[in-house]
Amino acid sequence: MRVETERLSAQLETLAGFSDAPAPAVTRVVYTETDLKARAYLKTLIAEVGLSVREDALGNLFARWKGADATLPAVATGSHIDAIPFSGRYDGTVGVLGGLEAIRTLKASGFVPQRSLELIVFTAEEPTRFGVGCFGSRALAGTLTPGALAELRGDDGLNVLEAAQGAGFSGDAADVALLAGHYHAFAELHIEQGPRLEDVGVPIGVVSAVAAPATLHVTLTGAGGHTGAVLMRERRDALAAGAELALAVEAAALETGAPDSVATVGVFDVHPRAVNSISSRVFLTIDVRDIDLGRRDGMVARIRNDLEVIAAKRQLEAEVVVVNADPPATCAPDVTATIRAAAETEGLDARTLVSRAYHDTLFMARICPVGMIFIPSRDGVSHRSDEYSSPEEIAQGVRVLARTLATLAS
Ligand code: HGY
Ligand code: MN
Ligand code: MN
Repeated sequence: MRVETERLSAQLETLAGFSDAPAPAVTRVVYTETDLKARAYLKTLIAEVGLSVREDALGNLFARWKGADATLPAVATGSHIDAIPFSGRYDGTVGVLGGLEAIRTLKASGFVPQRSLELIVFTAEEPTRFGVGCFGSRALAGTLTPGALAELRGDDGLNVLEAAQGAGFSGDAADVALLAGHYHAFAELHIEQGPRLEDVGVPIGVVSAVAAPATLHVTLTGAGGHTGAVLMRERRDALAAGAELALAVEAAALETGAPDSVATVGVFDVHPRAVNSISSRVFLTIDVRDIDLGRRDGMVARIRNDLEVIAAKRQLEAEVVVVNADPPATCAPDVTATIRAAAETEGLDARTLVSRAYHDTLFMARICPVGMIFIPSRDGVSHRSDEYSSPEEIAQGVRVLARTLATLAS
């Protein structure tokens, strides 16, 4: 099987050019003009491979290669092309363009799939616009109903359904959910977004489980006031309380004693944000993850308790919204065994590891057996403009994916 490495690199380069950030950074937020242009480019590439395309009401895109027995549940691969602000060009896109290249390679090799093979481009894996990651695959897996989608609003006030319609997607959101059994299996190719494969010099990661993410939105409201006039003892300073909470979030993760526990304050908005005004309100997002659900929930409980103590001590109001608290996903043994065998056939060393980043695979696991193939990330870097995987590493991932899909579809 011959992967067209140069062409794939050129496609990744072109796709990275659809960005609302200056190169080499990439910003590509769901349903923006930039996102729609990138999707249009992708569809030209899909047309060249001769796949039939359908898009659902949210813009999840399905590109299908009809199998010999089209009545059988299909085998799917795929990932996302949306990118968080000022990030890199390989997160998600390697699984979309690499998935398309894997299908093209199989076609060129004369392989005839028994089961149809389908490339899925999930409409949005990143939480940037609506605060919840993977709303496309959540809806596809039936865990996010049209009613819940209508509750998710971006900063412009539009909810997911309104934004999807505005972007030109039509159809009934109730038809997005696919039943269990719709797919025979799903395998996603993705960059590791961590240092483990590079540290051990292994080109292929076989993912055993995908971490359980939880997201909390916290608003702390105090009194504000004049920085000169209000004495320290009379203050109800929201920023100081938010800072104390941010340190409590960090402590909650450090003190589980497990390296898989991570917790992060990523957004910290301050109001009125003026040099001579005591902050009256802060908004924080808290991202809590662990591969172990009990530990993850333990961190969330401790953070909520710390928040109560801080708010009471400083006489502030605290509002907490649990945006999502998902269980982890375990990859299916027969899919991971297929990936491992594919790597072996390709003469590539493979290492089993967990994914602490979440992926659309986390939700596809609700409706079919799943697996993930990782390729190394240079210095373990991701969600930064210097994110990098070499053309050779990408091609190796594509070859393992192609063999995996061929086995699953036979
Ligand atoms: O946050 C994540 O794990 C993913 O990159 N959206
Ligand atoms: Mn990402
Ligand atoms: Mn990703």
